[in-house]
Amino acid sequence: MKFETIAVHAAGPDPVTGAVAPPIDLATTFTRDSDLALTGDFQYAREGGPTHALLEAALSRLDGGEAAMVFASGMAAGLAILQGLDPGDRVILPDDAYYGFHVAARDFLAKWGIVTELVNMADLDSLRRALSLPARVVWLESPSNPLLKVVDLSAAIALAKGAGAATVVDNTFATPALQRPLELGADVTLQASTKYLGGHSDVMGGALVFARRDSWFDRVEHARHILGAVASPFASWLVLRGLRTLALRMERHSQNAMAVARALEGHPQVAAVHYPGLASHAGNAIAARQMRAFGGMMSFRARGGRDAAIAAVSRAKLFVRATSLGCVESLIEHRATSEGTGSKAPPELVRLSIGIEHPDDLIADLDQALK
Ligand SMILES: Cc1ncc(COP(=O)(O)O)c(C=O)c1O
Repeated sequence: MKFETIAVHAAGPDPVTGAVAPPIDLATTFTRDSDLALTGDFQYAREGGPTHALLEAALSRLDGGEAAMVFASGMAAGLAILQGLDPGDRVILPDDAYYGFHVAARDFLAKWGIVTELVNMADLDSLRRALSLPARVVWLESPSNPLLKVVDLSAAIALAKGAGAATVVDNTFATPALQRPLELGADVTLQASTKYLGGHSDVMGGALVFARRDSWFDRVEHARHILGAVASPFASWLVLRGLRTLALRMERHSQNAMAVARALEGHPQVAAVHYPGLASHAGNAIAARQMRAFGGMMSFRARGGRDAAIAAVSRAKLFVRATSLGCVESLIEHRATSEGTGSKAPPELVRLSIGIEHPDDLIADLDQALK
């Protein structure tokens, strides 16, 4: 079956009641019989439960993996992977990975004895050089946040494999609707389901999908169970609902973003547009090869620097001034302000999450904001 069909039918109808929408099982604990055997598949909700399991099965199918695990947030999902590592392990991170992972590397991984190195993954020679020392994990993110850098995933994964490192791909911007890293050889994909999977700015969640249910999966599952970063049943249910329209939304986000990017590219107040769908983007050919469409995320640099960027954001009327991404409404932010102290985002950078409104209205709003 095709992705769109799987996404609609992955979790339903309920085989017990016939309900077309899946149930939410809020129970935190599950019974044992008089011989003390568990009555069903679950013991305690921190280890997982029926609603988590429905979402995990759906995500595994959509990403083409053997097993999935859902978490309380995208950060919790990413950190659970790193919590499964040992002191002394080396992790190679993209130089523009989602900034939360840079902060985690600085404030937590160093304390745990995990060594991190930042690399420009769009330059495979830099990755090759970094792999001349042993590495346990190569972390990839494409397109990246907030500069929309595109990494040649097949080539980077092959380099990592050749050096004996496992690969994690943060696929939050693309989602499995547009890009399927496990098919390109990745070991694990990461989703901040807070974003496109949920799709409506009303649920926090994270997910990992593993190509194989192996000892790495077991280590991460142990970290989730004992450190406790599991998703809630209600959050899992909201993400399940989001999945049903994911394919449709990603198609519209991508069409709208292409129209907005083209309009911004010719705008006199815009110095550069970072959108992988534009022929002017350095990663356009690679993105066209590994993505089904180019997604809804972009950033641009205001001509006139930081003040001009902030002025444009503050004049937006239809775009909602808020961080985050992947929702039906379009969002605009001055990225360095959202990231706060220590941000490496260029001061003139404005990040846009393009929603599913009519593109003409979005372009008109940006046009008046940039005047
Ligand atoms: C690419 C990417 N990965 C991970 C995360 C973290 O997700 P969450 O905010 O759900 O913890 C984000 C959040 O913006 C993100 O943009």
